[in-house]
Amino acid sequence: MRFLPRLLLAAALATATLLGCWWLLGGRTGELASRAKEALPLTLDTFLHTQQLRKKRLRSFCSRSTEGATLPESPKARGRLLSNMRVSTKLDFLYCQVPATGMEGWQQLLEKLEEKENVTVPMPLPYPRQNAPQTQLSKFNQTMIKAMIGSYIKVLFVRDPFQRLISAYMQSVGSHHHSFSTFVQDVLDRGQHNVRLEAKPLVSLCHPCLIQYDYVMMFGFLRQELGHLIHRAGLPKGIHLPEFMDSEVQWTYAWLSEQLFSELSLKQKKQLSHFYREDLSAFQFSNSLLSDFLSTPETQ
Ligand SMILES: *[C@@H]1O[C@H](CO)[C@@H](O)[C@H](O)[C@H]1NC(C)=O
Ligand SMILES: *[C@@H]1O[C@H](CO)[C@@H](O)[C@H](O)[C@H]1NC(C)=O
Repeated sequence: MRFLPRLLLAAALATATLLGCWWLLGGRTGELASRAKEALPLTLDTFLHTQQLRKKRLRSFCSRSTEGATLPESPKARGRLLSNMRVSTKLDFLYCQVPATGMEGWQQLLEKLEEKENVTVPMPLPYPRQNAPQTQLSKFNQTMIKAMIGSYIKVLFVRDPFQRLISAYMQSVGSHHHSFSTFVQDVLDRGQHNVRLEAKPLVSLCHPCLIQYDYVMMFGFLRQELGHLIHRAGLPKGIHLPEFMDSEVQWTYAWLSEQLFSELSLKQKKQLSHFYREDLSAFQFSNSLLSDFLSTPETQ
């Protein structure tokens, strides 16, 4: 009886994985890519307005949150806290490295730009430019870290937590997890601190209350949004953007989300919403299935 749904699911997983791979490799899937390009262009005004709204929501979250907003003095604690933060000292960018949020394409782009001799970001810096090969923010000393957090262009990539979870599930399919429900239960049992990076809430990985990101980029809209970001950051015009497939991947995931969500028990749905409550509150994910199950205090 459950054979057909499972078959469809397997097919969708394969499609999504394939799309994901194409997109990661910066590949092209001709028809899909051109279809997305025909989408209404995002104007600069709309882009900037959207950024304002996202940052306003984030500030409001941070004003209520207990998330640390200060840099720890001890190098060890600092290293732990900043373990996902990456910098390009040549281009003066700081970003948070979280898989399956679309930042892979961004990272590729930065690496490509860094290889070019004469690409610089026109921005006055309060210190001599480093040009260090090091990309881990935590490897610099506290003075440098503070200067970088204060002056670099800071970019955060966000994605619906349930979609990130599905992506993590797909990575683990075939290894040791049998059903999505078992996988979710394992995430819940491990808890926020012990869960694998792919499933950790973004707020705890990227510390948006400590690092005031200049741009919050949303999975599903990256191609257009990044075009504006690059322009605003003063990078040379006519840069060839990697072929972002996130908007296509998003369609598959919307369908997949419904299917997989229905395999969870009500308790799991509620617990999962609670698990990701900070992400759901800090960022606006339209149509996130988890938002509907955000718990009231008595169901926690
Ligand atoms: C410098 O930039 C120009 C275009 O702005 C390009 O034609 C040239 O190849 C670049 N030089 C190097 C060394 O990358
Ligand atoms: C921090 O690092 C910079 C660059 O490597 C160096 O110039 C500076 O003296 C260091 N500051 C401290 C307090 O160690």
